[in-house]
Amino acid sequence: DREVLEEAFQVKVDAETRIEPKDWMPDAYRKNLIRQMSQHAHSEVVGMLPEGNWLTRAPSLKRKAILMAKIQDEGGHGLYLYSAAETLGITRDQMYDQLLDGSAKYSSIFNYPTLNWADIGAIGWLVDGAAITNQIALCRCSYGPYARAMVKICKEESFHQRQGYDIMMVMAEGTAEQRRMAQDALNRWWWPALMMFGPHDAESAHTSQSMKWKIKRSSNDELRQKFIDATVPQAEYLGLTIPDDQLAWNAAEGKYDWGEIDWDEFRNVVNGNGLCNRERLETRRKAHEGGQWVREAALAYAEKRQQRAAS
Ligand code: 3HC
Repeated sequence: DREVLEEAFQVKVDAETRIEPKDWMPDAYRKNLIRQMSQHAHSEVVGMLPEGNWLTRAPSLKRKAILMAKIQDEGGHGLYLYSAAETLGITRDQMYDQLLDGSAKYSSIFNYPTLNWADIGAIGWLVDGAAITNQIALCRCSYGPYARAMVKICKEESFHQRQGYDIMMVMAEGTAEQRRMAQDALNRWWWPALMMFGPHDAESAHTSQSMKWKIKRSSNDELRQKFIDATVPQAEYLGLTIPDDQLAWNAAEGKYDWGEIDWDEFRNVVNGNGLCNRERLETRRKAHEGGQWVREAALAYAEKRQQRAAS
């Protein structure tokens, strides 16, 4: 009966056995993964928009080619994650509908505007850096398709992070105006990047269950701290200042003490009232409508091919 099945499932998870699509799993495990994986995919796809804003205005052909490659990667990550989520029984159309009708979440970070080229550097360095911290842990997720998707995605994210940090380095070592832009971008992206890791563990709805099922291998606060400890020295190397006057190295505990996130801002953005939420969803809705004829043509073509094959 259900008790026995759930116990056997937990024994498998505790023994680090990967759960595969055809394995029995508790409905709540399936539901939790569909929620997290589909929202992860939405984040990748919406994440293309802030960067797309600077594609035609990149400062050189080289930077434009790099940004084009990064944006294509993000789109690919989205499709990869939608496919992995489909193995749990949700359809692609259902996931698209959930994003477009506003019922599904995507990462708050993509609701901030990209005001100038330094933002593209800060996004690569901080946003993709935070994503890597989060996604390295997900490579050990108990659900096979998600963990395997993460391995490929993490390789590409490392390139994203490096190219972003390279942009910041060039600007931090550039003219006074470039240094000012780099510092201004760090000021605007630092706290929203910390919000990517989610609420504090004490306020996190899913962390304890997700840790038990090894969907999550580290808590929100643990990953956030890891990101801070790795990123502060990188800012120092650039000669830039982290916008947190409570940031201080805690030698006794071997980590940085830091201030506090503005949780009202976090809730505001997650609930749809950030600077760019409406614009992002509007853009996705228009793109989806614009793609309707392509989907219809592809279906019509597939039907014709099927009829030809059958005749
Ligand atoms: N933005 C939007 N929603 C957020 C959020 C954020 N920064 N942080 C938390 N939330 C939501 C959660 O989705 C959950 O809402 P839900 O129940 O409706 O889904 C609620 O706030 C409570 O948060 P929890 O901590 O309880 O939720 P999780 O256990 O799911 O933890 C998470 C949140 C750490 C983001 C986790 O979902 C996760 O690891 N997701 C996969 C990674 C991901 O989505 N990364 C964000 C995008 S970065 C990226 O992909 C693009 C890259 O290429 C740059």
